Amino acid sequence: MPAPLISPSILSADFAKLGEEVRAIDVAGADWIHVDVMDGHFVPNITIGPAVVKALRPHTAKPFDVHLMISPVDGYLEAFAAAGADIITVHPEAGPHTHRTVQAIKGLGKKAGISLNPATPAKMLDYLIDEIDLVLIMSVNPGFGGQSFIASQLRKIEAVRKMIDKTGRAIHLEVDGGVDVNTAKACIDAGADVLVAGTASFKGGPDCYAANIAALKATAG
Ligand code: DX5
Ligand code: ZN
Repeated sequence: MPAPLISPSILSADFAKLGEEVRAIDVAGADWIHVDVMDGHFVPNITIGPAVVKALRPHTAKPFDVHLMISPVDGYLEAFAAAGADIITVHPEAGPHTHRTVQAIKGLGKKAGISLNPATPAKMLDYLIDEIDLVLIMSVNPGFGGQSFIASQLRKIEAVRKMIDKTGRAIHLEVDGGVDVNTAKACIDAGADVLVAGTASFKGGPDCYAANIAALKATAG
């Protein structure tokens, strides 16, 4: 099994020195940088907006994997694209016209992702899969880092892997929430190729980041 890409969520970084943290996790081997954007409305937590993404952009050349947990989302796509997002992922529940939202992201020259909450079925992708570049399976209810992995989502990862393979297109299958050295292998075996990891990447501080990322990659066997 090839090693997964690791997308550390900066939600678990030290917010008082985010630029430094992004540089440290980049040097430690992060493939992408996962940016969790929360609005206190779509999810019960508030994090950062486009100004912070823009401020972080000079700190790394790695792709910014921007996970928008905001509703309504359409009015903010342009700002995140201009701020330096490379992949913009939205939840289908975050607006009435998800197909149009995906077209808007692609129209801004960015890769488009769709994120499925734990209760949202894979079926939601039926009429979107041919348009998107990434599927993000939430293995926790969105809003907070450090929650426990919901094992029922493995079945959804398997189902979405089948859908992706049927398209013949290179669509990333990413898992987000409670991913650590104990849960990563099951995600990879189910068909994921990108793992978001907040707590598991940033635990122990900067001296541990490289080992944390290497340990996650090694779970692929
Ligand atoms: C949850 C976020 C996740 C979260 C992951 O709403 O989307 O990206 O930060 O954190 P861990 O890896 O600690 O579960
Ligand atoms: Zn996320």
